Amino acid sequence: MKRRRFFIETHGCQMNAYDSSIIGEALKRCGYDEARNAAEADIILINTCSVRERAERKALSRLAEYNAMRTSNRHVRIGIVGCMAQRLGEELVKSKVRPDFIIGPDAYDSIPRVIEDLEREQLPIVNTYRNSSAIYTFRPSRYDEVTAFVTIMRGCNNYCSYCVVPYVRGPERSKPYREIMSEISHLVHLGVKEVTLLGQNVNSYNDGEVDFPRLLEMVNEIDGLVRIRFTTSHPKDLSQRVIRVMRDLPKVCEYLHLPLQSGSDRILKLMNRSYTFASYCDLIASIRSAIPDIALSTDILVGFPGETPEDHEATLRALGEIRFDSAFMFKYSPRSGTVASQLEDDVSEEEKIRRLNEVIQLQNSIVDEKKRALVGKNVEILVEGQSQRHPDHLYGRTRKNWLAIVPSKGVSKGEVVVAKVTSATRWMLTCECTSKKVRA
Ligand code: 5AD
Ligand code: SF4
Repeated sequence: MKRRRFFIETHGCQMNAYDSSIIGEALKRCGYDEARNAAEADIILINTCSVRERAERKALSRLAEYNAMRTSNRHVRIGIVGCMAQRLGEELVKSKVRPDFIIGPDAYDSIPRVIEDLEREQLPIVNTYRNSSAIYTFRPSRYDEVTAFVTIMRGCNNYCSYCVVPYVRGPERSKPYREIMSEISHLVHLGVKEVTLLGQNVNSYNDGEVDFPRLLEMVNEIDGLVRIRFTTSHPKDLSQRVIRVMRDLPKVCEYLHLPLQSGSDRILKLMNRSYTFASYCDLIASIRSAIPDIALSTDILVGFPGETPEDHEATLRALGEIRFDSAFMFKYSPRSGTVASQLEDDVSEEEKIRRLNEVIQLQNSIVDEKKRALVGKNVEILVEGQSQRHPDHLYGRTRKNWLAIVPSKGVSKGEVVVAKVTSATRWMLTCECTSKKVRA
């Protein structure tokens, strides 16, 4: 009999990408193979994001497209998992694009049961129970990538006023450090060279025995692992100790994602971010003095309720002063249940778009300048695989997280090379290999 197949489409953040691999492994253990595309699959899952309304609309339209694939002789089962599954639950079953099953982020342990129920046609299935100790470990039997995400904590206690995550992902919980260590060692054994430690707020990691800086020290000791990254950091928890450890550990990359959100203290307060622009700048100054060439990235949120033209100017000034190496920029989207959703969403859509375009334009010009300045410099690249767009080239990332390509000759996936940047665009560095690193 032909083996049944699954296909997972992942929306949202890296936490969801990690969860999709957890779900994929669970389905494989239930006897399913991974399909190359949705058209070949017996089960299709959409792993959804709720952070902005647009993300939810996109998931619903994908669901409608997959629904259209159901025919009298094609018995496909379609599920919604992730944050939107948790947020809407039963409501989705009643909607006109009814999925067959719905699983929230705390309920992925129920997948074997869901499969049994699907096979017995006991539909629809809704598993959105809360389990504030739910923590998963990724233990694949084979793994083809050089880089991997490892979730070290789930949930969030910060309650930024605009954010739905604490409501859909529940309270913060840390994965026991022993589990993290064995998960990473296992992945390294399968060929992984770089891990990104994931959590909504990784700097507050604490499993009762080990805190975040200590965890970094322990992960740094894993033989065969070459690079460590982590995301996301909240300015309130990024301690001087974390900065020292980042500076001292050779495997921790010179890259930090530190969401600023706004340059206006009034808006930061309304956002419940618990720092001011000045204290954020002090933190950046101490990071840059410890690690002078660190690459910094951030998140910017424009059009928060009550944001005036002056507040917006403050954000533009902040971008100009700090000169981030990259930024993810969004316009505010009210999320029901959050504190901000009680405030009047009084910045018009046109004005939000105008402000967003302004921050994007400014930030792009900063990135372009920074990229141009890299031409002629040497960078260290961990080679991840064949470039799709550039035949005869392999792609990888520099320690500062820039995407880069090098000619394939004499270089292979998984190696760390030192390469000279010959040209640069906003998205990509084109490099010539100068030497290989012994360590890889
Ligand atoms: N609307 C728009 N962007 C949001 N983010 C979080 N909540 C919202 C929202 N309601 C952004 C923030 C956060 C990033 C992951 O998504 O900038 O840092
Ligand atoms: Fe990730 Fe947050 Fe979106 Fe969920 S809601 S997918 S945790 S960004």
